[in-house]
Amino acid sequence: MTKTNVPSSPEHFQTAPWFILGGGAMGCLWAYDLAPNSIILVKPERYLQYTNDPSTALTATKLSYQKTSQNIPCIRECRLANIRSYSSPILKLIVTTKAQDTLSALTAIQHTLHPQAHILLLQNGMGSQQAVKEQFPMHTLWCGSTTQGAYTTDFLHVVHAGLGQTTIGPWHTSSDTHPHFSAIFQQQLITYGQQVTFINEIQPLLWQKLAINACINGLTVLFECKNGELLTSPNRLKWVEKLCQETEQFLDNKQIALTTPLFQHVCHVLKQTAENYSSTYMDATHQRPTELMYINGFILSEAKQLGLLLPSHTALMVQLAQKGIF
Ligand code: PAF
Repeated sequence: MTKTNVPSSPEHFQTAPWFILGGGAMGCLWAYDLAPNSIILVKPERYLQYTNDPSTALTATKLSYQKTSQNIPCIRECRLANIRSYSSPILKLIVTTKAQDTLSALTAIQHTLHPQAHILLLQNGMGSQQAVKEQFPMHTLWCGSTTQGAYTTDFLHVVHAGLGQTTIGPWHTSSDTHPHFSAIFQQQLITYGQQVTFINEIQPLLWQKLAINACINGLTVLFECKNGELLTSPNRLKWVEKLCQETEQFLDNKQIALTTPLFQHVCHVLKQTAENYSSTYMDATHQRPTELMYINGFILSEAKQLGLLLPSHTALMVQLAQKGIF
């Protein structure tokens, strides 16, 4: 029996560290809140920047956290683990990678994931959750959606720009897991994490977030504008309206109900976030791959299976591809 196969007890689960996969802004926020019981998993190159000894798998460093409203950075001790050489069993994991990196990042730590591990996926879009469930069927999966606003100024320097809410719900419960583990998982995230709510049905919220992102994010890249600037030109607003109509038609076909008419909801979000650049705009301007394949791309591939054509979503993706945005 390998170390990762030894069944875990509730006492062990309770004290086990929280691992964070994805050291971006969200990952750093969670690592900060859960410190000193958090460990960020990093690539060997990154790990080597913080230690002179590549053979060790764990090192301590500082994580700086700042609220935009206050200029004083708070520092907490933070542990980094080398994704390649870390081998102690991981029981509690939060994944904050980009949707397209989720599967490869999880595969890299597969050898050290305890069979009873609980994994929380926090990312934009859809498709990665289904892929993780398929490849990691024995693990208990949670998914979440967040309205927290944060950015990093450097690695391990996070600025908490907008206080938001994180909503989490079960995606897949493994029969192997101890019944108490879920309760411990929830209680620790509520106690030490950011403003967290647990709900039983997370899918409707994820669909709603997907629908909103699909009608905003790509357009902000196409028009190279802030969210609010989609409201100020009739041509841009027409695009928003058409994307909303097609998305609603698609959701109707999938029998997914939205609580508010989508165009109304999207216009509200655009007003609320008028001065923000969308996450996809930020990725595109920093020449990083975007999550659009897990947003509009996911909707288009699901719609195809239903025999639905979504011309505005297709045109958006084609025009973005012509600009070299994927
Ligand atoms: O992806 C984003 O940036 C956000 O979800 C949203 C709602 C578009 C606001 O900027």
